[in-house]
Amino acid sequence: MQKLKFFLLFSAITFSLNAQKSINYFLGNQLATTGVYYYPEHWDSSQWDRDLKNIAAMGFEFTHYAEFAWAQLEPQEGKYDFAWLDKAVAIAAKYKIKVIMCTSTATPPVWLVRKYPAILSLNENGTREEHGSRQHATFSNNYYRAYSLKMIEQLAKHYGNDSRIIGWQIDNEPRTFFDYNEDAQQRFRDWLKKRYTTIDALNIAWGTAFWSQIYSDFAQINIPQHAQWGMNLNQRLDHYRFAAWETSSFLDDQAREIKKYASPNQWVTSNYIPSYSGGYIGKSKDLDFITYTRYMVYGESLGIGRKGYRVGDPLRIAMANDFFRPLSPYYGVMELQPGQVNWGSINSQPLPGAVHLWLWHQFAGGSKLACTYRYRAPLSGYEQYHYGIVGPDGVTPTPGGLEYQKFIQEVNELRKNYDSKATMPPAYLARKTAILFNHENIWGMDMNKQTDQWNSLGHFNKYYKTLKSFGAPVDFIVDSSSFSKYPVLIAPAYQQIDNALIEKLTNYVNAGGNLVLTCRTGYKNREMHLWEAKFAAPIYDLIGAEIEFYDLPMPHAQDSVLMDNKKYTWKTWGDILKPRPGTNVLATYQGDFYAGKPAVISRKLGKGTVTYVGVDSNGGLLENDILKKLFAQLNIAVEQYPEGVLVEYRDGFGIGVNYSDKTYTLAIPANAKILVGMKDLPTAGVVVWKLK
Ligand code: GAL
Repeated sequence: MQKLKFFLLFSAITFSLNAQKSINYFLGNQLATTGVYYYPEHWDSSQWDRDLKNIAAMGFEFTHYAEFAWAQLEPQEGKYDFAWLDKAVAIAAKYKIKVIMCTSTATPPVWLVRKYPAILSLNENGTREEHGSRQHATFSNNYYRAYSLKMIEQLAKHYGNDSRIIGWQIDNEPRTFFDYNEDAQQRFRDWLKKRYTTIDALNIAWGTAFWSQIYSDFAQINIPQHAQWGMNLNQRLDHYRFAAWETSSFLDDQAREIKKYASPNQWVTSNYIPSYSGGYIGKSKDLDFITYTRYMVYGESLGIGRKGYRVGDPLRIAMANDFFRPLSPYYGVMELQPGQVNWGSINSQPLPGAVHLWLWHQFAGGSKLACTYRYRAPLSGYEQYHYGIVGPDGVTPTPGGLEYQKFIQEVNELRKNYDSKATMPPAYLARKTAILFNHENIWGMDMNKQTDQWNSLGHFNKYYKTLKSFGAPVDFIVDSSSFSKYPVLIAPAYQQIDNALIEKLTNYVNAGGNLVLTCRTGYKNREMHLWEAKFAAPIYDLIGAEIEFYDLPMPHAQDSVLMDNKKYTWKTWGDILKPRPGTNVLATYQGDFYAGKPAVISRKLGKGTVTYVGVDSNGGLLENDILKKLFAQLNIAVEQYPEGVLVEYRDGFGIGVNYSDKTYTLAIPANAKILVGMKDLPTAGVVVWKLK
């Protein structure tokens, strides 16, 4: 489970958070605030004062309580005990440490589990999750949802008007449950009924004429058991949608319960694992803003060079920043690895300096809040060997702890240098690029890949990686976003489309936008049906070409395409194109029976351009060169940072970080004031300067 969640990346988006925008929780001159999780219930209460005092002495500004403490808050059904938590809040306040209060819905107490075992999630293979870990109670259980709100009501009544509490975190790393209990089945049926109203509409959406699957009543429907071969894809799509709704609506229910009692000065958030397939991130309208959690060294990411695994994947924080920032008025990072973890395949030490690098990298994206899991290293339970800000003795700072302390001191220095009138460099703003993203495309393509060589996120990354090497600010945006502020908009593999979006994209281009569409785009409608037309026919007028067919070579016989006399190999997906008059061919297929036919085309349309990249190249070299060509043609100046060097600007400061294995010298203007580091950036180095 732990592993699985870390291989999930990036998810769904809407811009519909009902944020209380009138309240500025995070004042500009504060830049960002840094905190640390503390679990008073894990330690003898005689140690709390010492610990909070030390937390304050290290410069932390807030702590985070009661995330997993339901058993201590409600030791028996209906009997609440807040006395211990009151004491911990008072001690935090004594040292001027603010508190984030959490709803502990990730950890129901055992009495609740034993009395109502149906709250335990039932897996598709028939096994039931058990007490003894966490996140075993399903969000599709009616009783669990209702009972949780009772506990949250008590908590909110108790702390909702307490000025020592700055805000609330709902649940922990909320996930989707693929739960097969009877409540989940019934909730799925109810959800479908609301969506389709009539069973005939559902039969059409699911294409149930195929394989004799026709339903005459919603009561006949069950959640798809994916274990079977050949399960209806449209039914599965709806199940994904339903599971995402179960999570996002439960977070909303919790947020609304808190807000019944909480002062408007307290905010409500949740801490998501950036997950590209989750579908619930950004969907809970009652959260005020969102945060993510990030772990960088856990045995799976090799990074750059021999020791790169100790620094992590250079795009992991970058991409989370660029996903979360456009989703909400603010974003923060609720957990950032402080040192070794315990759950990875190999839990190596981060490179000295890496924790500091990650902190500055999350800051660079615009984050307003950074927090770490956790202050004291746990001695028992599941997370033994997991580092904290202090080691197992409870007092000695770990190397990561000292790097947090350093970061906090440096942010304090930046606060002194903050100028509310500072602007961003025009060249940086000029290359601002959007990537159009919809998790439903990922679901759709991943359940129907057509070639096991296809990797949806890998495809996105080819474009994203190039943009970051250009030093471009990137926003992951959604259909409903405004496109016009981006000179370049990339919609990679946007499989499920509708005419309204095609029209919006066409208007964007006509008005001067530069659109890049890539292979697989527009093959299906939003219900994930193929069009009753040629493949992707609705996009032909926009791209100025037809798609003759697509091909998927075997890996041992991969093909290449030729662009400007340079060869690029590919082995995943290729659209074979038939351009219409006025469309230019940029690259052609080389080695197979369709040699000479176009793979990449571009055209002018209105005041803008459309480029269609029909092929997914090995390693992204073609994608890189196409974007270079496009930006040059548009006269948009770009940087050429080596892999692992990332530079962003925020609040009048430039921030450069280096994940690569070589020292890189950043060209910082001579009159800039360097506040952190030096322009020679070693591995894991950071430089921060003030713009003049
Ligand atoms: C996170 C989780 C924390 C803690 C941490 C350990 O995913 O939210 O509660 O378990 O992992 O690294």
